[in-house]
Amino acid sequence: KQRSGAVIRSESINPAIRKEEAKVVDTVQIAELSKPLTPYCRCWRSGTFPLCDGTHAKHNKETGDNVGPLLIKK
Ligand code: FES
Repeated sequence: KQRSGAVIRSESINPAIRKEEAKVVDTVQIAELSKPLTPYCRCWRSGTFPLCDGTHAKHNKETGDNVGPLLIKK
């Protein structure tokens, strides 16, 4: 399938995180942020999910993908 020139695959985007849950949802209170800039994972491969641990760089190198974190500024 193609949309906007991108190949859309039908396999699961989440390879291993909390697969026992019907839907992975996280809530963060802005007041709980301890750092001025907190990175949240969007590649579903972080060992510290929902926080980014930099694993996206390995994923991007192996697959040619271009995913990166969501940065929340305090
Ligand atoms: Fe997933 Fe960084 S580890 S976005």
